[in-house]
Amino acid sequence: MKMPWLSSRTRWGAASAGLLAALLFTGSAHVAAQTPPPVGIATTKHNLGSGAGPAGRNQVSDTAEICVFCHTPHGASTDAPAPLWNKRLGTAGAPAGGGSYTTYDTLQTPSLDGTVAPVGSISMACLSCHDGTQAMDNIINAPGSGGVLADGGGVDGRSYTWSGSTVNAAGRLTSGPALLGTDLSNDHPIGIQYCGGGLSGAGATVSGACKDGDFRTVQTALINSNQVFWVDTGGAGKQRTDLPLYVRTDANSSLGPLVECASCHDPHVSTGQAGPTTTGQVAGETFLRISNASSAVCTACHVK
Ligand code: HEC
Ligand code: HEC
Ligand code: HEC
Ligand code: HEC
Repeated sequence: MKMPWLSSRTRWGAASAGLLAALLFTGSAHVAAQTPPPVGIATTKHNLGSGAGPAGRNQVSDTAEICVFCHTPHGASTDAPAPLWNKRLGTAGAPAGGGSYTTYDTLQTPSLDGTVAPVGSISMACLSCHDGTQAMDNIINAPGSGGVLADGGGVDGRSYTWSGSTVNAAGRLTSGPALLGTDLSNDHPIGIQYCGGGLSGAGATVSGACKDGDFRTVQTALINSNQVFWVDTGGAGKQRTDLPLYVRTDANSSLGPLVECASCHDPHVSTGQAGPTTTGQVAGETFLRISNASSAVCTACHVK
């Protein structure tokens, strides 16, 4: 996959060197105001490493690596639905640290039409930190030579040294709005069928037409022989700023494309980060794929 922010970060690096030179020559403060918004994960709360990033965030003193808390180039989790995932995940829809999830459908809202699948897919990856049941330094392939542990060090992880106000000494999220916990009935449904009950057709012949007119039409394409689905937010083809829907490969595959955490969120983007140039979309706060100004995230799917 392409990571447009990497190349743009390089460009900004060159640009800010130019700005610095301009500042040195003019000493003028208004030049600094033109500094482009920070781009990429390093400037976000998903930088758990010891390097520069938001002050007071949850971080370790043991490594300045950023990606390692979620990805590894080799030896990734084999049961992971997330790409090259470097953490232990829960099995069979259960939290990694034990217990069970309560899903949205247990509320029994009479308006909910779609089926909620057991917690799984990419949402398991987010919840492997955000449900608070396991240390965030659970890392399968630790930085440096060797250091591979198939279970990532278990529930208490790698025994790294943590600082930050919503994390305990073991590295578990303990408080604050980012701690979703294991009761997901007060969160937007995940593992939920799109279109209030799915799409018309099945498998490779799926039409993209919604069963329920309260939802916007789904885009679909065959990419690398896989049928992929997304909700368009502008630009041609599938973009990072579109909202992806995820299919399961297990017994729940017949449910069709589902809304998961990463449908709305991109865990790498910083606030104000520009999207692909063809869309011009700007990422919102809180790792949203697009800005939620005027509730644009919500109305991308819901016809309201
Ligand atoms: C907090 C966890 C987290 C961190 C840290 C993280 N990622 Fe990811 N990454 C994810 C998740 C979850 C996905 C799957 C998201 C999806 O389905 O779009 C992903 C997907 C990706 C993808 C494929 C999809 C895409 O958006 O292109 C790439 C490439 C990637 N990450 C690279 C990186 C790199 C490089 C770093 C470090 C600079 C990094 N990630 C840090 C969680 C993380
Ligand atoms: C490696 C652990 C880890 C993983 C995996 C992870 N996060 Fe986070 N996330 C954090 C931490 C730590 C914070 C900051 C918590 C705090 O400040 O209390 C955070 C904060 C957030 C925030 C709030 C940002 C803000 O500025 O308030 C959002 C939204 C978020 N994560 C979404 C996600 C989603 C969606 C995924 C999966 C695609 C994900 N995270 C995966 C550790 C993780
Ligand atoms: C349907 C879209 C959608 C889905 C699905 C979704 N989120 Fe969010 N999430 C949002 C929006 C929008 C916000 C911003 C709310 C705000 O501004 O307070 C948000 C905020 C958050 C926050 C920050 C909480 C706060 O108010 O500071 C965290 C953490 C988070 N999401 C994690 C997750 C995780 C983990 C999942 C999957 C279990 C998930 N989200 C699924 C749309 C979604
Ligand atoms: C990626 C698509 C998507 C996005 C974005 C999205 N939703 Fe949803 N939402 C759904 C689906 C699918 C359902 C399940 C509806 C059903 O089956 O009846 C749902 C359910 C809901 C429900 C519960 C309905 C019920 O009957 O209990 C509410 C409320 C809701 N969404 C509000 C929001 C808000 C507010 C936002 C923006 C923060 C948002 N949604 C963003 C797809 C989305």
